[in-house]
Amino acid sequence: MLVRDELPVPATPVIVVTTRVWSTTVIRASVIRIRLGVVIPVVAVAIRGAADAELDVVVGGLGLGYTAQTALDDPRVHCLVVVEALEEVIGWHQRALLPDTAELASDPRVRLQRGDFFAMADSNVGFDPEEPGRRFHAILLDVNHTPRHVLHPSHRAFYTPAGLRKLVGHLLPGGVFALWSDDPPDPDFEAILAEVFDRSEASVVRFPNPLTGGYSTNTVYVAS
Ligand SMILES: C[S@@+](CC[C@H](N)C(=O)[O-])C[C@H]1O[C@@H](n2cnc3c(N)ncnc32)[C@H](O)[C@@H]1O
Repeated sequence: MLVRDELPVPATPVIVVTTRVWSTTVIRASVIRIRLGVVIPVVAVAIRGAADAELDVVVGGLGLGYTAQTALDDPRVHCLVVVEALEEVIGWHQRALLPDTAELASDPRVRLQRGDFFAMADSNVGFDPEEPGRRFHAILLDVNHTPRHVLHPSHRAFYTPAGLRKLVGHLLPGGVFALWSDDPPDPDFEAILAEVFDRSEASVVRFPNPLTGGYSTNTVYVAS
């Protein structure tokens, strides 16, 4: 399936999206990466909750919307705040320009919240300005390439013990933090997670890559 048009992308120091029409192959590769990557943390959350638990979830980084859409596939997710830095990206969804995730913005469980995920994580208000201090069952982050390769230097502080302790303040007791990374498991970051959280693990997700004809791997960190 093709994105219909060239999508409007602003001049910004955060280089996050291609400005050209994506090919079917690229779109499919993206779907595979994100769907595989996010199923793991969402399932982790579901296992911890009661069968009829209602989960409040944050997704950091809207992009094409696959992470958010995959979270919504779990019926226990009854409220999803998607934090996105760029108004234009939110606009793509509000105008239903992305065929695979065209329903996302109109889902009554979803709020598309413009903001800087890392500034919100570092604040006392948190991820829901309408309910300052609100805590969540799960926070799923897919913004930077890896904890080391960040889109902007201001993101680095988040991946330190102090930064992650601030994030824990926005989780409910037993809540889960999950992070997608394009690199193999990073022992230094695993040590930081182990310092801040009771439990943490890095899972390597291997998937066929239609762009290379071979296989690729990503890492998903899950901590609670
Ligand atoms: C890799 S894409 C996310 C892909 C997404 N998981 C999906 O399913 O398509 C990264 C997104 O994060 C957004 N972003 C970058 N920096 C951000 C920040 N500091 N706070 C919130 N969103 C940010 C970008 O604008 C972009 O939409």
